[in-house]
Amino acid sequence: MKAIVQEEYGMADVLKVLEVEIPTPKNEEVLIRVKTTALNAPDWRLLRGKPFIMRMMTGLARPKNKIKGCEFSGQIVELGQGATEFQVGDEVIGDIADYGFGAFSDYVCVKTSLLAKKPQSLGHLEAAALPLAAVTALQGVRDIGQLKAKEDVLVIGASGGVGTYVLQLANYYGGNVTAVTSERNVEQAKELGAHEVIDYTKKPLVNIMNKYDLIIAVNGYNTTKTYKKLLKPQGRLVMIGGKSMKQIIFITAFGGWISRKKGKKFNGLLAKANGKDLSFIVNLVDNKEIRPVIEKEISFEDIPKGISELEKGHVSGKIVAWVNKD
Ligand SMILES: NC(=O)c1ccc[n+]([C@@H]2O[C@H](COP(=O)([O-])OP(=O)(O)OC[C@H]3O[C@@H](n4cnc5c(N)ncnc54)[C@H](OP(=O)(O)O)[C@@H]3O)[C@@H](O)[C@H]2O)c1
Repeated sequence: MKAIVQEEYGMADVLKVLEVEIPTPKNEEVLIRVKTTALNAPDWRLLRGKPFIMRMMTGLARPKNKIKGCEFSGQIVELGQGATEFQVGDEVIGDIADYGFGAFSDYVCVKTSLLAKKPQSLGHLEAAALPLAAVTALQGVRDIGQLKAKEDVLVIGASGGVGTYVLQLANYYGGNVTAVTSERNVEQAKELGAHEVIDYTKKPLVNIMNKYDLIIAVNGYNTTKTYKKLLKPQGRLVMIGGKSMKQIIFITAFGGWISRKKGKKFNGLLAKANGKDLSFIVNLVDNKEIRPVIEKEISFEDIPKGISELEKGHVSGKIVAWVNKD
């Protein structure tokens, strides 16, 4: 089968399309013929093996998970032992960033607890844009953010893969939503449910005080002091991502230390893929509560180029690719 393989750390040009063996499903796994895939931040964040400390998880001298790719939409072609929740022929979606990657390939073996049935209302291309990004957004807004109806919520980086879902979910949970984007994404943000939009190229956030119950930081950079200033006295920050890895690690590891018991709270999110949250997302999609935003469709061979483009940080929504059209 064909697969996009990384044998060494480096830029996106180290990724090669190679022939590899079709895997065999183990206990509680199914073999899936991948139809489509979508690109995500881990596809570029883990490429270079930097900072070096990250190699403790990804492989010291060379990447231990050679076949890349986090999310997919496909069809089950074989059941492993104990894989009783699904049938051969079921169309499913999943995020395997915590399960060894491998979505950039013709076939992948996946534990059934990570899967959900593909939404009936979407084709494979749009369905591949859901698993990692939408579940991350759900866990940020609902679980860590605990957004309540009528709260004022600020979504910074509201136009990318994760941000477009954060915006829609913040709206779904009844938030009074302000999106931070650049001018070219203002209309998209309003259409996805933002009540107000701040153009970050024109209005610095540092001049706003005491305004938000919840900030979801998905992209861009603001100092921790600025976040403190933006929050109401008992407001919460949820850091999903952004331009400073140092800040993301700091808030994720030490957010509890700088939080106040009866005051402002700071949390980082480490999203955890699971079939239950993914099925919840699929329901929302089929009920037309949320939808994926696709920036463009690329070919399988162009995935490395797509990863380089994603790294530049200005894709609106998701980049998706066909793996097998038949
Ligand atoms: N915590 C977790 O478990 C987890 C899981 C998945 C992803 N993440 C992280 O989440 C972040 C976002 O991922 P993503 O896939 O959504 O990224 P992305 O798609 O690359 O985000 C691109 C978007 O960000 C906007 N943007 C760029 N600079 C901005 C700024 N200064 N202020 C506001 N918006 C800005 C861009 O809009 P303009 O072109 O208009 O600037 C673009 O639409 C990444 O840092 C990723 O590592 C974390």
